[in-house]
Amino acid sequence: MERIPEALAEFFEHRATVRKYTDEAPGSELIDSILKAAMRAPTTGNMQLYSVIETRDAEMRRKLAALHFNQPAAAGAPLMLTFCADYYRFTRWCEVSDADAGYDNFLSLTSAMLDAVILAQQFVTLAELSGLGTCYLGTCLYNAPEIAELLRLPRLTVPVVCISVGYPAESPEATERLGVEGVLYRETYPELSDSEVVDIYKAKDDFAPNARFVAENGKRNLAQVFTDVRYPRAMNESTSVKLLDFLKAQGFMK
Ligand SMILES: Cc1cc2nc3c(=O)[nH]c(=O)nc-3n(C[C@H](O)[C@H](O)[C@H](O)COP(=O)(O)O)c2cc1C
Repeated sequence: MERIPEALAEFFEHRATVRKYTDEAPGSELIDSILKAAMRAPTTGNMQLYSVIETRDAEMRRKLAALHFNQPAAAGAPLMLTFCADYYRFTRWCEVSDADAGYDNFLSLTSAMLDAVILAQQFVTLAELSGLGTCYLGTCLYNAPEIAELLRLPRLTVPVVCISVGYPAESPEATERLGVEGVLYRETYPELSDSEVVDIYKAKDDFAPNARFVAENGKRNLAQVFTDVRYPRAMNESTSVKLLDFLKAQGFMK
């Protein structure tokens, strides 16, 4: 049977987000070399619609961590990288080249966001393969205006994800995933019965740490932990309003 190489399967089977780091910051040479390799990732039209802001300075790290709600992975990280969707640099290039840049719109924003996320994930995989620990901070989008101000981001840029990076000071167990059969649909999206949906998510319900979350939060099931505690409707909706205003202010919503 054809399969991915054993060593790669093993690596991905055991990889996990790391939220505790030693004080030693990964050196610039290492980070630059990882980024250089990560930048070989596919990008929209090879336009490379991303930029990365490196935060090493202690005071800047403190301020940035606060904008990530002082999550431990942010507050204790020796290095943070903010991956930005960036049509500013490319638009400037068009402008100085007497080329009509029509990139101040929603489609262009989504292209730049895709580029930034693909780069971020390629960076994460390479960093982990190089012995570093990383943690995505999705809180970037929650406080995008404040982060943009701190990092002095120009128009046509959006901070999409921040990655905290360091040498691991913990070795977390791999978390659960849905089975491939719950995710990969052959040719068309199937009609899912209630019991099929329940079966798909059974691996998550059965994962011991998740069962603990349910009990600790006094909920009846794991889905309620997501809807009532982790990502509640009111927070999603108020954050969306804030984010949309910011995207407009950055010049993207034509
Ligand atoms: C877009 C995105 C945003 C995330 N935001 C956070 C975050 O704000 N804080 C955090 O501790 N982990 C964050 N994570 C990490 C996820 O919680 C983690 O990947 C998931 O629980 C699976 O665990 P694993 O990476 O160890 O397999 C984020 C991951 C992604 C992809």
